[in-house]
Amino acid sequence: MISRNDVCWCGSGQKWKKCHYPQLPEKNSQDMASVYKKQYGIILKTKEQQNGIRKACQTAAHILDETCKRAKAGVTTNQLNDFAHDLHKKLGVIPATLGYGDPPFPKSICTSLNEVICHGIPDNTPLKDGDILNIDVTCISNGYYGDTSRMVMIGNVSEEKRRVVEVSYECLMRAIAILQPGLPLYEIGNAIEEHARENKCSVVNQFVAHGVGIDFHEEPQIPHHFNHIQIPLAAGMTFTIEPMINAGVRSAIIDPSDGWTARTGDGRPSAQWEHTVLITENGYEVLTLLSN
Ligand code: MF3
Ligand code: CO
Ligand code: CO
Repeated sequence: MISRNDVCWCGSGQKWKKCHYPQLPEKNSQDMASVYKKQYGIILKTKEQQNGIRKACQTAAHILDETCKRAKAGVTTNQLNDFAHDLHKKLGVIPATLGYGDPPFPKSICTSLNEVICHGIPDNTPLKDGDILNIDVTCISNGYYGDTSRMVMIGNVSEEKRRVVEVSYECLMRAIAILQPGLPLYEIGNAIEEHARENKCSVVNQFVAHGVGIDFHEEPQIPHHFNHIQIPLAAGMTFTIEPMINAGVRSAIIDPSDGWTARTGDGRPSAQWEHTVLITENGYEVLTLLSN
């Protein structure tokens, strides 16, 4: 990866930071939001929107927390779905996944077991000792979206499963730690893929993180793998980071029978953790980190 003090790729002979290093538009310029919308399709959120998104994120985090507490051996993923669905209702929010996409996603949460990378559909499979499970909750609160997921380990899990669970968590946290205005977007994928490779894991490249808040999936798309997207982060951006990390090959195969369930190409385990974050003037805020 090219670093700021390396020679620029354009052949000028100058340092990259003095040459083609991505530039942030004028700080505090009033039309920052319109520049981002026009150039990248990215919505920089107003304070009012940030407050609405923060509330949606806290509610999603609460629903996720309560649902994870109920993930135990013998419990089916359908039972977890029904619990989460009822809790959405009780809290006056809408499960964003229910009816989403084409074909319409049939359930209110995603439950991705073992070799399932993401978009697992809750069913009547009971959890059993040795399973690892990702639960992904996205809720709509007063029109705003919050999106978060985490892993649960059931009983005693294999060394390989524990490794993907831990490495995917560390990948997420390392990527979050570097967030600040001006950071080129590819640095997120760098932080994640470097850590995954050091730990002999692979990074899924068929699914990406995404802007979120006003809509479920907004610009920008954020790869978790090495990439060259130079868009500089800016205050007011809200997006997810949700690395999917595999023990074996990185490839994902979507189940043709349901159009959603994505499994690893080699059947080895996969894990994912997801937060929604806000870029602030000085750094970041993890909106889906429970504050109480
Ligand atoms: N919550 C998932 C994400 O992190 C998306 C789920 S879409 C669904 O982007 F339709 F599968 F629910
Ligand atoms: Co997401
Ligand atoms: Co999600």
